[in-house]
Amino acid sequence: MSRNIAFASDHGGFELKNHIMAYLKEQGYNCVDFGSHSEESCDYPDYAVPACNAVLGGECECALLFCGTGVGISIAANKLRGIRACCCSDTFSAEMTRAHNDANALCLGGRVVGFGLAEKLVDAFLSTSFMEGGNHRRRIDKIAAIEAEQKL
Ligand code: RB5
Repeated sequence: MSRNIAFASDHGGFELKNHIMAYLKEQGYNCVDFGSHSEESCDYPDYAVPACNAVLGGECECALLFCGTGVGISIAANKLRGIRACCCSDTFSAEMTRAHNDANALCLGGRVVGFGLAEKLVDAFLSTSFMEGGNHRRRIDKIAAIEAEQKL
């Protein structure tokens, strides 16, 4: 069965999002595109939220999010309870944020990383599993407790 991945970007990440969607479609992934749909200026939170909700709702296993730097859309994504989004531009972090942080969203900057590096970052993220149990689980649980204690 093909793996469902949620995609979102603003104008700054639009081109890289399209490149990575094509790259993953070729490998048999089901890429669910939550926009944006052009290079016209837009606001990354508007697209991050539906993509992250697809992850939280279980329709997609993770989200790949893109803006100019990857930073703004990661900040927006991390406002949703249960989303652990990481902005990466090195493959070690892209791997470790899955292995140690159980990240469910990877954020990339279309003005920061080229197509080739972005492919490697996505490969590292999608091929790594969370190291279940022990110290890492305890830390993730503490993050969830912070979210649970927060007043609306
Ligand atoms: C848009 O110009 C830019 O600010 C945005 O894509 C992103 O880099 C913000 O973090």
